[in-house]
Amino acid sequence: MTEASILFFRACLALLAMPVYLLSLLGMWEPFCKKVFFPFFLENFSTIYERKTKKQKQELFRNLPDFASPSGELKLLEIGTGCGTNFQFYPPGCKVTCTDINPNFQQGLERSMNKNQHIHYERFLVTAGEDLHQVPSGSVDAVICTLVLCSVHNVNNTLKEALRVLRPGGAFYFLEHVAADHSSWTYFWQQVCYPTWKLVFDGCCLTREIWKNLEQASFSELNLQHISVALPWMPIQPHIMGYAVK
Ligand SMILES: C[S@@+](CC[C@H](N)C(=O)[O-])C[C@H]1O[C@@H](n2cnc3c(N)ncnc32)[C@H](O)[C@@H]1O
Repeated sequence: MTEASILFFRACLALLAMPVYLLSLLGMWEPFCKKVFFPFFLENFSTIYERKTKKQKQELFRNLPDFASPSGELKLLEIGTGCGTNFQFYPPGCKVTCTDINPNFQQGLERSMNKNQHIHYERFLVTAGEDLHQVPSGSVDAVICTLVLCSVHNVNNTLKEALRVLRPGGAFYFLEHVAADHSSWTYFWQQVCYPTWKLVFDGCCLTREIWKNLEQASFSELNLQHISVALPWMPIQPHIMGYAVK
């Protein structure tokens, strides 16, 4: 597991993905990825991922109703909604603001919204998690973020924005894939795949130690579990999940 072997396998992978690197050099991959490839991939990957994580997500979101405001209203804001795979886990009657930096998930999103009529969709903002300026401070009861902190440009700024929009006592829910144990083969392959994976999968970084960002953010309470999700042959292992209270 030397640096040289990482570089060797990286080069092999880059050769295999040469067409993508060439399109990227010509400035054509990123727009194609955002408009066509990633929305198509996400909708199909979500079906498999949902099967693997359904129980964990049910457990994760079980106590969402506890964070309703004293009036009984529950206002949620989701960062990086994508195709809306989390809607099914939200309690009936809650009000959801969806946000994503990429506006090209309409098809998948509409399908999810039609399937999940038990929640109220308040608005959809095309914005980065690092800049939620359209959302007033202290205005939401819970912020949801699943498989997004791997891709944001700045994890700390995204957490700061989540903290800002949450009311005191509100909660930040997360489920994210993170860097594997540094002595494991998974971590070796994460390092090998890192540059090509990031290019192909719209900025997804395999080796982030996101639990450290969460520990250092100014939440008053952090409930975090390290879990494994059965995704053989995928370098997006292990995961962390939980919630942090403002
Ligand atoms: C792997 S998908 C996950 C989608 C959804 N949260 C789920 O669990 O199925 C990552 C999502 O994060 C979005 N994203 C990436 N960077 C972002 C950023 N800086 N701010 C907001 N969303 C972002 C992507 O456009 C994409 O929709």
